Amino acid sequence: MTQKSAKPKVLVTRRIPEKGLALLRDRVELDIWDYDEVPIPQEELYARAPHLDGIIALLSDSMDKDFFFRAPKLKVVSNYAVGYDNIQVAEAAKRHIVVTNTPDVLTEATADIAFGLILGASRRMGEAERLVRKGAWKSWGPTLLLGQDVYGATLGIVGLGRIGRAVARRARGFSMKILHTGHTQEDDPETGSRWVPLEELLASSDILSLHCPLNEDTRHLINRNTLKLMKPSAVLVNTGRGGLVHQEDLYEALARGVITAAGLDVFDPEPFPADHPLLSLENVLALPHIGSASVAAREGMAVLAAENLLAVLEGREPPCRVTP
Ligand code: DGY
Repeated sequence: MTQKSAKPKVLVTRRIPEKGLALLRDRVELDIWDYDEVPIPQEELYARAPHLDGIIALLSDSMDKDFFFRAPKLKVVSNYAVGYDNIQVAEAAKRHIVVTNTPDVLTEATADIAFGLILGASRRMGEAERLVRKGAWKSWGPTLLLGQDVYGATLGIVGLGRIGRAVARRARGFSMKILHTGHTQEDDPETGSRWVPLEELLASSDILSLHCPLNEDTRHLINRNTLKLMKPSAVLVNTGRGGLVHQEDLYEALARGVITAAGLDVFDPEPFPADHPLLSLENVLALPHIGSASVAAREGMAVLAAENLLAVLEGREPPCRVTP
């Protein structure tokens, strides 16, 4: 009698769109953590670790040395995100665990939200909406809720990668002057963006939008000292990672008028405590990390995460491998 070979065991740490799960059902033994919108607790993750051949992880799951130590069979961490600051990639590499991510499929959706925050924070849309809902709108007023123009303003982009460039393309439609900073000290012919050093970017931008990865070099890039270099009328937008900004310094800067407003889709930690002083400020427009939250983008991420995972488990090169 021939024995049926066992399917690889895979944990998906939150229910992802069905299009991705459907690819997995026949080919792996699937365990989905699906409880009440809450991330899988660390002890549950550790309890499952020894049996896993693969995992589809969320950006909120810490994939570190301690987890890898408990997962001797693990071959792949397929991150359901383009960012992978939740994964110790070098540790994974030491153990021959492949790490993958989901670029491209979420670029335009995230750029839409970044541009939404650019408009919303500059033109005080959060504050304006709260005013209407509170019943505090007295009349049309010549000086009611005056904000900063976006059309024709100077946009500074930190990190002109896929998403930064997609934001720059939108900015062209608003006749914005576009500047960027980043490792490759080159102008970008596609968007007409000019490379400048960080200090010049901070001093020249009417709107500063963050699109660089979070790592040791970029943690708290925006802090008391860098905020001081910005214009008092400047608007900060962050759709990258919360850790790029020193949030207490940002609170001080916004409360004291060092800069004028912020539009934030990402926080450190997430979820962000509702009683944090930053959220008491009218000039903060806050979203709950929904950059990639369009139906198409999230489906695309689910399919790509499943394809990445299956490729590794079936001995093929995954479409999107992350290298240390
Ligand atoms: C990512 O993929 O890194 C995004 O932050 C998810 O929206």
